[in-house]
Amino acid sequence: MSYDQRFFDFLKERIGLDVTSVGPAIIERAVRQRSTASNAQTADEYWRTLQASSDEQQALIEAVIVPETWFFRYPESFATLAKLASRRLAEINNLRALRILSLPCSTGEEPYSIAMALLDAGFKPHQFKVDGMDVSPLSVEKARRALYGKNSFRGEDLSYRERYFTAENDGYHLNSRVLDQVRLQVGNVLDPALLANEPPFDFVFCRNLLIYFDLATQKQVFEVLKRLTHVDGVLFIGPAEGSLLGRLGMRSIGIAQSFAFSRHSDAEPEPFIPAPAPVPVPTRQVPRQAVPAPVPRRPFASAARPAPVEKPGSSDAAALLANIAALANEGKSVEARAACDRYLRSHPPVAQVFYWLGLLSDITGSVQEAQGFYRKALYLEPQHSDALMHLAALLQSQGDSVGARRLQDRAARSERAADSERKR
Ligand SMILES: C[S@@+](CC[C@H](N)C(=O)[O-])C[C@H]1O[C@@H](n2cnc3c(N)ncnc32)[C@H](O)[C@@H]1O
Repeated sequence: MSYDQRFFDFLKERIGLDVTSVGPAIIERAVRQRSTASNAQTADEYWRTLQASSDEQQALIEAVIVPETWFFRYPESFATLAKLASRRLAEINNLRALRILSLPCSTGEEPYSIAMALLDAGFKPHQFKVDGMDVSPLSVEKARRALYGKNSFRGEDLSYRERYFTAENDGYHLNSRVLDQVRLQVGNVLDPALLANEPPFDFVFCRNLLIYFDLATQKQVFEVLKRLTHVDGVLFIGPAEGSLLGRLGMRSIGIAQSFAFSRHSDAEPEPFIPAPAPVPVPTRQVPRQAVPAPVPRRPFASAARPAPVEKPGSSDAAALLANIAALANEGKSVEARAACDRYLRSHPPVAQVFYWLGLLSDITGSVQEAQGFYRKALYLEPQHSDALMHLAALLQSQGDSVGARRLQDRAARSERAADSERKR
């Protein structure tokens, strides 16, 4: 099926997804997949099926969403939450439970991490409640099942798994102590009446969603988030979303790597970091790629993860690459960069290392440097789709829509080629 604006418009209207933020390849692939599944022979036929069936509409949404998440993603933000939550409980004289929202919650790792972090910090169950919400009923269903495989557990310190999960044949099941703290429901952040009858939340997590929206939708969603966040509350966002909130008048609370913003803050705002939106395209050489957190400073030493340990036996290229990915996934930007340098000193250059260097520069706002690294990656491997998509996002953020579009088209062609290669 060829490029078809109707499907882009449908997804934009229903879930806010902006084709220029993810590139057309992801949407086209989902449409192709659903078309085949519903036996439609042409785009028109699939369009009619889509219009006639709310189940098919939901299926297309499920096919296009990016549910990528894991426990304690950006660990510093959970340490910050615990600290702020103690303060907030004192402010309200312990008169009610703290209210915390995770929107979008995807398959539950984020709201459950919030609950674990607060239980670990000594909060009693009656002192807080967490609401998790996502537009995907399938993801919410998985969250309710609370059975997790290894992709949900990343990073070095997995001690929480011993405390809160029971190992079963098909994964790790979360204990009721945590489950009881979290209420899950389906909801769309574009719904103007979302949670309209609920009191505001003391803490709202809205991470890795705004990056999929265009500016107009981001502003619309921001108004919803403002309504949902208590006037003295704090909003946690993803690393790439800070520049937007700064522009919309929120202030960083000034704690590095927490990506936390308040409506009122005495803290000095953090410098404006124009990080371009990372694009969620699956990596090929290094699995489970994430956007690493940018700042090396660790404000909460006691709650912080142990210092990264170079994995033993990382003499061969694959192990070194895996080590870079592990460090970056944990937000150890400085160490990840050093591991990239070590790789380049001891091995012939490969695109994946330059791609990581690009990403690491990207999130600290070193735009020119990031561009240089992405271009080196593409010189070595012209169809490296992650480098293509990230460079596209970077060009787009600098106003070069034509250049961005060209790279996205290249990435789409490369994805199509990879698809047909896989089918052979
Ligand atoms: C990348 S996950 C983020 C999960 C988690 N917040 C995190 O940062 O790990 C993005 C989630 O956004 C959800 N989503 C997309 N559009 C949405 C919308 N309009 N309203 C609510 N959730 C949405 C998707 O279903 C997906 O689960």
